[in-house]
Amino acid sequence: MLASRLLRAPLGALVVAVGLLGGSWMTPNAATALGPVPACRLANFLTVPRDYDHWSTTLVDWLLRVPRNYRPPDLVPVSEAGIAGPGVIRAVAIDDLRALAEAAAANGTPISVNSPYRSYADQVASFNGWVGVDGYDDAITYSQRPGHSEHQLGLTIDFQTLNGGSALQGDWATTPTGAWMEANAWKYGWVMSYPKAPNGALFSEATCFHYEPWHYRYLGRDIARKVHRSGLTIREYLWKHFTMVDPVTGEALATPTPTPIATPAATPTPTAPATTSDGSPSSSAAVVTPSPSASSSGGGGAGIDPLILVGAVAAVVVLASLAVAAGRRRGSPA
Ligand code: DAL
Ligand code: ZN
Repeated sequence: MLASRLLRAPLGALVVAVGLLGGSWMTPNAATALGPVPACRLANFLTVPRDYDHWSTTLVDWLLRVPRNYRPPDLVPVSEAGIAGPGVIRAVAIDDLRALAEAAAANGTPISVNSPYRSYADQVASFNGWVGVDGYDDAITYSQRPGHSEHQLGLTIDFQTLNGGSALQGDWATTPTGAWMEANAWKYGWVMSYPKAPNGALFSEATCFHYEPWHYRYLGRDIARKVHRSGLTIREYLWKHFTMVDPVTGEALATPTPTPIATPAATPTPTAPATTSDGSPSSSAAVVTPSPSASSSGGGGAGIDPLILVGAVAAVVVLASLAVAAGRRRGSPA
């Protein structure tokens, strides 16, 4: 019945098809919402996912941490990206670091690296140093406890202006280089982790952290674009779409099972995380990581989106009806 109506009204069907297809494609974050973002509080839960392949969706914050032996296996010198500065980051970020550095230089606002990957031990020294300076209560607002730092992920860099001194003084985002980074870094997969609060406060309840205009996390271009378009912070976006931890108990949550419509091979397989043995509570034993398909598709699960399916069927019906109509016209007497 629907098909015969569409045959009689091909233009309407075309509009429906385009609308359905377009509506689905334009949904920026068709991912699985796992619940509200937890309020800021200090906890020590192991984050999920945290296997090295799920680098783009691994979250650390005031609640969530990686184990002390979390050390990505693909760390390479940042200089491989042709950028000045010390230390190493994950190889997965090198190409986009190079692209970012080249674009910044082309704009006349070249950047260099101040602080990239930091090991658990590095963060112990850094955090304890700041506790010594300002006391624990202040230090936790601008320095993460060991295991909770994005720097340990090997995906985060404190940038600075090339030959311009440290960006850690003043508001780097008000300098030409910092402003260019704030406006453009996401296009290359890099997102500022700790922006100001919407009301301009330096401590944000969204990030549970003090404003850091120099601190950028590599998410890959796909998720960086989605985070940018969402208007959310990295913490909010990852909690909402990817983090599989009960924010109250810290227990690992089971991954939602995607419906195997057209891709039976995508049935998720429970995967042991690459790093679990740091003497942590055994909650890690229950970890089931999101399937690669869920991750690479933005968390939306495997299979064909029903809206796309309906839209495609409608489009085929339209094309068939147009062909029939054209055939009739060709067959008609002049
Ligand atoms: N200050 C940065 C955010 C850290 O401690 O990870
Ligand atoms: Zn930093």
